[in-house]
Amino acid sequence: MDERDAAVEESLDDGLRHRHGQHFTKDDPADLMIALCVRHPMAAVLDPACGTGALLLRAATRLAFLRGAAGMGSGHLTGIEVDPRLARAAQARVPGATIINDDFLDHGLGVNGGPEARAPSPGSSAVRVRGPLVRKSNAVSGTAPALPRDFDAIVGNPPYVRQELIDPARKRMAPPAGPALSGRSDLHARFWSPSLALLRPGGRLGFITSGAWLDAGYGAALRDWLTTSHRLVAMVESSVESWFDRARVRTVIAIVQRDPPDASRPARFVSLRVPLATLVPAGLPLEERLARFDRMARAIEDGADAGDALVVRSVPSLALGGRTWGPLLRLPELYFAIAARGASRLVPLSEVATVRWGIKTGDDAVFCPPRDREPPVEERFLSPLVFTLMELDRLVVTRDQLRRNVLLVERGRENAAGREDAASREDAAGLRAWIARAERDGAHLRPTCAARARAGRAWYELRPAPSGAILWSIMHQYRHLAPINPEGFPVNDNLLQIDPKPGISTRLLAAILNSHVTALIKHAHGRQRNEGMLKTQAGDLRGMPILDPRAIGADEAGALVAAFDAIASRRIGTVPQECGRADRRALDRLVLEALGWTSREAEAEAGRLSSCLTDLYAGERLWEVDAVRRRRKRSGVMAAP
Ligand SMILES: C[S@@+](CC[C@H](N)C(=O)[O-])C[C@H]1O[C@@H](n2cnc3c(N)ncnc32)[C@H](O)[C@@H]1O
Repeated sequence: MDERDAAVEESLDDGLRHRHGQHFTKDDPADLMIALCVRHPMAAVLDPACGTGALLLRAATRLAFLRGAAGMGSGHLTGIEVDPRLARAAQARVPGATIINDDFLDHGLGVNGGPEARAPSPGSSAVRVRGPLVRKSNAVSGTAPALPRDFDAIVGNPPYVRQELIDPARKRMAPPAGPALSGRSDLHARFWSPSLALLRPGGRLGFITSGAWLDAGYGAALRDWLTTSHRLVAMVESSVESWFDRARVRTVIAIVQRDPPDASRPARFVSLRVPLATLVPAGLPLEERLARFDRMARAIEDGADAGDALVVRSVPSLALGGRTWGPLLRLPELYFAIAARGASRLVPLSEVATVRWGIKTGDDAVFCPPRDREPPVEERFLSPLVFTLMELDRLVVTRDQLRRNVLLVERGRENAAGREDAASREDAAGLRAWIARAERDGAHLRPTCAARARAGRAWYELRPAPSGAILWSIMHQYRHLAPINPEGFPVNDNLLQIDPKPGISTRLLAAILNSHVTALIKHAHGRQRNEGMLKTQAGDLRGMPILDPRAIGADEAGALVAAFDAIASRRIGTVPQECGRADRRALDRLVLEALGWTSREAEAEAGRLSSCLTDLYAGERLWEVDAVRRRRKRSGVMAAP
């Protein structure tokens, strides 16, 4: 993204930006993606959502580079853009390209089965501004040209727009021969099949998108469709830098070839371990810059690791279906070794425990007052609450660590006991005042509170189920902890509650959950969120494989519990800090032994586990620092030294 793009992006209307997913691609990832897709100087290249033409400009530069090498040829560039202002900007920026101001997903372009047409004549350039910017229908206009179906390369950063913002009519449109997309799919998912349909056989598509579809349920149809009907060439992700300034999401480059899957050509899953600017520094002469991206593209095609900078995992096409792809990019080989070797002793957590949400209050400011201030209501209505695992520093929940209370008013129970409504009693003046104030602020109208009232309860009446024996955070960052809750403190819905099934010891299950083996496995069962966060929902946790506590002998179980107790009595540090602790290593060794490693192997493997996790977390940290730095730079705030 050059200064012109930065200025245009800065000036965009935020509503439209979100609706159309307007984020522009930076030059470094663009050049890498284009080097993998545009392979000869005569290539016809299409960007189906071209914005201000950033990718088309890079493609033009690449064509000139290839022309230099081959000494002949002239490709052609076509861009489509729904926003007339951006379409005009693209035309001014890449004058030789054909820029069409239209909606790529519309039938009008011939994309979804309309009449085929000639390729736009080279050199023709036209901005066709038609219709209102945000169209509700998919009306076909006679003015839009149909697109040819023999592009050599399609490169794009298709809009990623959360499903809630997508026009419902658009969601119902099913592109022919495409994946059966669920209504939860991000908008970019709708660009893949119409784009691939416009490629000639053997042509390549490169899309840079949010990486969410690699792991999310809605991405499964797209992943399976791509692997069963195309050749997946490469997936590239940076483990250390964010490729977009504004969109706080991890991004991935996918390269797909319009050919049937080829069992002899594995897909390359590439993790970049250093910023692209380290591999191709700014200020290099253009020829040298493009030559470096060319070499990088060839290394990826050949499946060659480039030292510590670029880690390539080669995955046969047959092994790609029915699984999530994020772990193939992000997780070390050790994860796959544990999954394979421990397979007979790993079970989904739901086989040995139940998983429930914590209490959803509907308004934490009303229901969860801080404990270090004067209680706003009578003490008897308050109980210490586990609000977030951030406040815990040990593996055992104790009252002294808890920073918030929860307001527990069980009107029904008081009535059942033959007493009047708790809130109307004379000695509940504080509670009454608190409730009245909350109502003045509209708390009773919030969806969860209003739903309680509709169900015949008072809006402020929480009836928590018994508290969970072991707690699990939904969001994970630098620490791995699943504390036990022996005093049964109530738990907020930032957390999941785990109860072992009958016959299974809480401390044994806690030992397994707190081991670094589980810390590694959880990364394959959650979703990678912004800035190094991992999100695990109840469904992810239920399906997460863990060492089966039922498969462990009494002696091994005793040793595991003792190892857990040793760790539980001290403060828990970040995962990299914990990796250096002997007691932690002892717990991990025992879990690996129980999974089938000999004690000698387990010793070595526990060491390997520590270094893998240290690397994984160091990468997450760098990624986060980079994203924060970019945000600060944009808002003019200096980063701390
Ligand atoms: C993420 S931006 C990428 C722009 C450009 N390709 C780049 O990489 O800098 C996506 C662009 O798609 C445009 N867009 C959104 N929906 C579209 C549609 N249905 N058809 C064509 N363009 C669309 C947006 O206005 C936005 O400019």
